[in-house]
Amino acid sequence: MLIYQCLNKYNIVESTKLKNISNLVSFDTVENKVVSKSNIEIIIENNLIVEVGIKLASADKIIDCGNKLVTPGFVDPHTHPVFVNSRDEEFSRRLAGESYESIASDGGGIISSIQSVRDATESDLISRVKERMDSFLKLGTTTIEAKSGYGLDTENELKSLSVLKKVQDNHLIDIVPTFMGAHTFPEEFKNDSDGYVQLICDQMIPAVAKQNIALFNDVFCEEGYFSTEQARRILETGKKYGLRPRLHADEFLSSGAAELAAEVKAFSADHLMAVSENGIKKMAENNIIAILLPGTTFSLGKTSFAPYNSLRSAGIDIAIATDFNPGSCFIKSMPFIISLCCIYLKMPIYEAIKASTYTAAKSLGLENEIGSIEKEKKADLIIWNIKDASQIPSHFLDNPISKVMKNGELLFTA
Ligand code: NIG
Ligand code: FE
Repeated sequence: MLIYQCLNKYNIVESTKLKNISNLVSFDTVENKVVSKSNIEIIIENNLIVEVGIKLASADKIIDCGNKLVTPGFVDPHTHPVFVNSRDEEFSRRLAGESYESIASDGGGIISSIQSVRDATESDLISRVKERMDSFLKLGTTTIEAKSGYGLDTENELKSLSVLKKVQDNHLIDIVPTFMGAHTFPEEFKNDSDGYVQLICDQMIPAVAKQNIALFNDVFCEEGYFSTEQARRILETGKKYGLRPRLHADEFLSSGAAELAAEVKAFSADHLMAVSENGIKKMAENNIIAILLPGTTFSLGKTSFAPYNSLRSAGIDIAIATDFNPGSCFIKSMPFIISLCCIYLKMPIYEAIKASTYTAAKSLGLENEIGSIEKEKKADLIIWNIKDASQIPSHFLDNPISKVMKNGELLFTA
């Protein structure tokens, strides 16, 4: 402790070297592809990567990676972690044959998670969200996008975003907050959907912007939820207040949501299980990033995965995420999402690594700071228990991660 105090006092930077790495697999911004390199060492100073290369000079501290794989930390660009309990009974109902859509129209779904969030104290929500963030970090996620969306009135949406901010203040994981008042229509507006859209535009967005408590604005644009006209209004209003648009688009039915994402220049269009040809064309023309969420398709017992190959052939950048939420997907593990992508979407493993690190960071506007192991990027990385990236998809039952480094700090050391 004393030594650290002295180092800080005289501003002496302590350097750390990672050595004995079997393979370093990361997107390379110069070569513009994922590369795998052997005999590579990494030097870190404070929270930054300062050198990546062969036979580097020694450092104050050495970390032996045990001849194992090293990758960037995961960036999970789509989660809904601010809720009380998961809706386990809905999973059982689906196993008995009901669909997500029919359960939702029968009073279940998003709407049934609202009351408990409204009733919960801020500190109760903080401890639940903190615990969830601990799990994400252990699974290698070093940056996470997190949405509000289970409060659905001004007070409780602000409370949800404040929970994220307070968790962030005491947690190493980086949380990117998204306002999602437009998740569904709360009970009190069930016969006045435009009235709720007006409340979002006139009250919630200005209040969120005033507190400077969210970076993004997301809308569930889908039949039975927000129409493209309503979504457009909410996203355009958000833009005026500095909130960047992203969109839940064409999850169950194609409703023109991908086209809307292109029109408003959204940072991402997410889900896309039912995206149309025209939606794909418009996204490609406007460089809209697709975020695919195969954990949700899988958890809902569906087999209609998003059309990865058509999106990719159209030249669309693809990111992947967990979509962790209390109803349709309880998965926090990005390694498991990678397995699903490789098995069901036929995504090559290097593509899945890029999608879960670099492109995920790009969908949050953070690709210059995180998402790859390169000079001047944040020292957020994973030391695995395996030697080769090709082993990730098959090892989905045990956590194949040995250690996580966040901001240059080594976590979960045995
Ligand atoms: O992304 N699609 C909308 N929102 C979530 C589901 C949330 C819930 O069921 O509570 C999703 O899948
Ligand atoms: Fe979602």
